[in-house]
Amino acid sequence: MRFRDQVVAVTGAAGGIGRVLVDRFTAEGAVVAGSDIAGASGVDVTDRAAVREWVAQVEQRHGPIDVLVNNAAVTRDADFVDLPEEQWHREIDVALTGAFLCAQAVLPSMIARERGVIVNISSVNAVSYFGNEAYSAAKAGLLSLTRSLAVKYGRHGVRCNAVLPGTIRTPIWDERVAVAPDILDRLADWYPLGRVGTPDDVASAVLFLASADAAWITGVALPVDGGLLAGNRAMTEQVVIA
Ligand SMILES: NC(=O)c1ccc[n+]([C@@H]2O[C@H](COP(=O)([O-])OP(=O)(O)OC[C@H]3O[C@@H](n4cnc5c(N)ncnc54)[C@H](O)[C@@H]3O)[C@@H](O)[C@H]2O)c1
Repeated sequence: MRFRDQVVAVTGAAGGIGRVLVDRFTAEGAVVAGSDIAGASGVDVTDRAAVREWVAQVEQRHGPIDVLVNNAAVTRDADFVDLPEEQWHREIDVALTGAFLCAQAVLPSMIARERGVIVNISSVNAVSYFGNEAYSAAKAGLLSLTRSLAVKYGRHGVRCNAVLPGTIRTPIWDERVAVAPDILDRLADWYPLGRVGTPDDVASAVLFLASADAAWITGVALPVDGGLLAGNRAMTEQVVIA
């Protein structure tokens, strides 16, 4: 029960990872306020007024927010040369500007209470190229934001960290699975641990970083990627003789 009576706010809460985050924080005693552009709350993280209203409602109903998880994101496959400018902006707005707006909304009460944690869901795409240029740029920007908040607000008792998931089986893959039903099974071979990830793999890392177990950890980018970023096994198998 690491989060007994803590108030946890999760964006993108109706998605594959978001739902599990809500369940896992709730199971550990938290009062969880989830929001999503889809579903009942209808909060769009790119809408400053809607974000402010959501945070104000949560604080009024449950008290000040102890933990914010910036989890909302969108991406669609498109060739870079034909990538519509609106799509570039939307992917950056949801993943990066949304995190900025949510952090800005929760920080005043965190600073006033000298306690608070922000966990940003970035991606392996932030640090290595795996396609989806706009999404990757947004996720890389999110790492910079993570470091900025960690350093700027550390003395105010606020920690800020990021997780970098690899491939996780969630609805964000639905369009690709519709075209290539075995895509996630084929991708498993690229992972040193031999499988793609689950929302629980990501949630375990998020809950750790949000908890007192990580009290002296801030500004880090933690890969949750089955070893993907550690090296390229397929390549080394071609160059190593013995
Ligand atoms: N699934 C993966 O392979 C993978 C890999 C790396 C990182 N991630 C990251 O994990 C996070 C969760 O993704 P997921 O896999 O659960 O995807 P998902 O599509 O299931 O969930 C994303 C959720 O964000 C919501 N959302 C989209 N735009 C929004 C907006 N403007 N305002 C509020 N909510 C909005 C969607 O409605 C959806 O419920 C994302 O940040 C994603 O980039 C996922």
